[in-house]
Amino acid sequence: MVEKRDKVELRWPAKKYQEATAKDSSRDPGVIEIVEEYPGQLGYDGIEGNELFWGDNIDVLRYLLARGGKPVDMIYIDPPYFSGGNFFVRAPGHKFPRAYKDTWHDGLAQYLDYMHQRLVLMHALLRDGGSMYVHLDWHVFHYIKVMLDEIFGYDNFRNQIIWKRLTYKQTQVKAYGVLHDVILFYTKGKDYTWNDVRAGYGEERLRKYFCWLETPDGRNIKLTREQLDGGSPIPEGRRFALNPVINPNPNRPNLTYEFLGFTKVWKYTREKMKGLHAQGMIFQPSPGALPQKKQYLDESAGMKLNDLFLDIGGVMGSSLERLEYDTQKPLKLLDRLIQVSTNPGDTVADFFSGSGTTLDAAARAGRRWIGCELARPGINATRKRLLASRIPHGQGRKNLCADKDVLAPFMINRVKHPVEIAWHGNARVHVQAILALHGAVAKPATGLDLGEKDGKIVAIMPHGTPATALEAGEMLEKVTRALPGSNRVDILADAWILGFDEPPFMNTPGGIEARFIQIPPASDVAALLVGTGLCLEEIGHQKVPAGIQSLIQFHVLPGARLEYHVRGKAVTLALDRYQIHDGRPGDVAEARVKSGNGTGAIDSFDVLEFIGIDWDYDGTRFRCGDASVKSRKDMPVQREFSHEYGTGGSHVIMVRMIDAFGHDSFRRAVVDISS
Ligand SMILES: C[S@@+](CC[C@H](N)C(=O)[O-])C[C@H]1O[C@@H](n2cnc3c(N)ncnc32)[C@H](O)[C@@H]1O
Repeated sequence: MVEKRDKVELRWPAKKYQEATAKDSSRDPGVIEIVEEYPGQLGYDGIEGNELFWGDNIDVLRYLLARGGKPVDMIYIDPPYFSGGNFFVRAPGHKFPRAYKDTWHDGLAQYLDYMHQRLVLMHALLRDGGSMYVHLDWHVFHYIKVMLDEIFGYDNFRNQIIWKRLTYKQTQVKAYGVLHDVILFYTKGKDYTWNDVRAGYGEERLRKYFCWLETPDGRNIKLTREQLDGGSPIPEGRRFALNPVINPNPNRPNLTYEFLGFTKVWKYTREKMKGLHAQGMIFQPSPGALPQKKQYLDESAGMKLNDLFLDIGGVMGSSLERLEYDTQKPLKLLDRLIQVSTNPGDTVADFFSGSGTTLDAAARAGRRWIGCELARPGINATRKRLLASRIPHGQGRKNLCADKDVLAPFMINRVKHPVEIAWHGNARVHVQAILALHGAVAKPATGLDLGEKDGKIVAIMPHGTPATALEAGEMLEKVTRALPGSNRVDILADAWILGFDEPPFMNTPGGIEARFIQIPPASDVAALLVGTGLCLEEIGHQKVPAGIQSLIQFHVLPGARLEYHVRGKAVTLALDRYQIHDGRPGDVAEARVKSGNGTGAIDSFDVLEFIGIDWDYDGTRFRCGDASVKSRKDMPVQREFSHEYGTGGSHVIMVRMIDAFGHDSFRRAVVDISS
């Protein structure tokens, strides 16, 4: 029987076989650049455990498998659902950059292939006895169930969890409103971690059953409807429910006796009943009523979990944890799965981590985590939430944050897309691709790597290293020599590092205006290409469809003015101005109203979501010493910081700012500290 079942498999055109996919050498394991380190707070030993990878999970999975080390204990994924939708990060009053798209040019077969390649690798990374949760909805969960049966083995399927995420849906079509998602739960083998976590009783059960109160002076009172509905306070005391003490088995002569005027078959012996009565545990709700036993709420573990999760709502507009990230899942849902399937110190991974709910829930529960997200809006939302989150004290491993809530340390590693590696080795291909993405027409006759768009010359700085204002000046000179009449130039670079008081543009005495523009990271572009049938490798050789091009964001660098003052070994730093030049018309209008200026630039600190400072930048990794994020509780970001250096000499301060529009800028200053 089992043999026959093993032969059942899901097929689709061009299905790659399991073994072939896992060993696929057409793509090297991703090259990892450590870009950001957030050391967290006291008491946490090392940060290797918590890593967020910014890139395509297929590269990250291959990298992790090649790196070896401890396999992961639990994987939760909430991948695209084949929903045909586009999802956004919403910032009220601001531009809505797209978070990711879930449309598949070549249909279901393409989606299944995409998922299959990744699920095979995730299975390989999971430890024996580890747990896998795959969160989907009606669109494809049944296909993925068959696929997972094939990868994990039919016998390793544990549950199909129904999570009721909505309570009501008005449906426009002739069909039933969909209120639930599906979470498929598999384990790698039969010997797996299972903790008997209990669910709370829920408002309805509490109201219905725990409607009695034992007051401190020993009286038993029934709570009023108003008290149970929260209309008036519940007095001090212990809430309890009443459970029957009648034995369900009527044929127990030794338990049949008279008690408080009733001759019944009881659950307990006469002696035990008397003892319980003496302790005040047996109670008659009214004089002459059948006796029952008290169950105190403060001693009740809660309900055993079942496969219907009806007690956890979705992240709604008013939820405190809401990050304005479409598809964000509630922390409580992830906390439940993590508590059931892992122990403190275990590693939880999420390879479609979006706004980082799994990572946040894992950190709060004292678990280590690995995350992966392709698109920048998700990375920005995750950074922000992790910096605002705290591990409750006493949680997690021994000696960890014993007496105070702490910030979990983590790092963000950017994964170079294979195409970026190719660009590095071939400047011409790089330039062609960037011009195509930007929608500019190449101007090969100049002998330089230039293009033209909307009457402006487009110049591209070399790939790989951040550009400076000095280098931009040199580029501008070359452009004006090659094309003497040009007066408007856009200079594009992968990243820019400007000085504290340098503007993000140049105006030459000859009347040339040059703007500094940031090329979007390859992974952002890859995220927009998912499911389009076009891949990053083909950009430059093939035309980029207008629909995609309009979504690719080449940001004009924001303006910022920073100042610092040194007194002895102490430095104070202040952000004096932050200014955006390229909001979309609606956003500009809205933000301008907010900031009250009519210059065309948005001059507002309100849009800043993150500011981080590396007080001793080493030229390679951004080690964040101080950070401030905009959260609902803490608005807006802090603009003044101070630091005390331990040693004298020259120190490089690097400031990083990220705003709600997705602009990500770096400013650098060298301070001299006396010894
Ligand atoms: C449904 S959302 C996850 C939401 C997440 N559970 C949360 O609570 O915020 C799916 C995410 O997968 C990301 N994604 C899609 N394809 C990916 C890939 N190949 N590698 C990494 N992330 C990917 C998308 O950018 C999107 O943020």
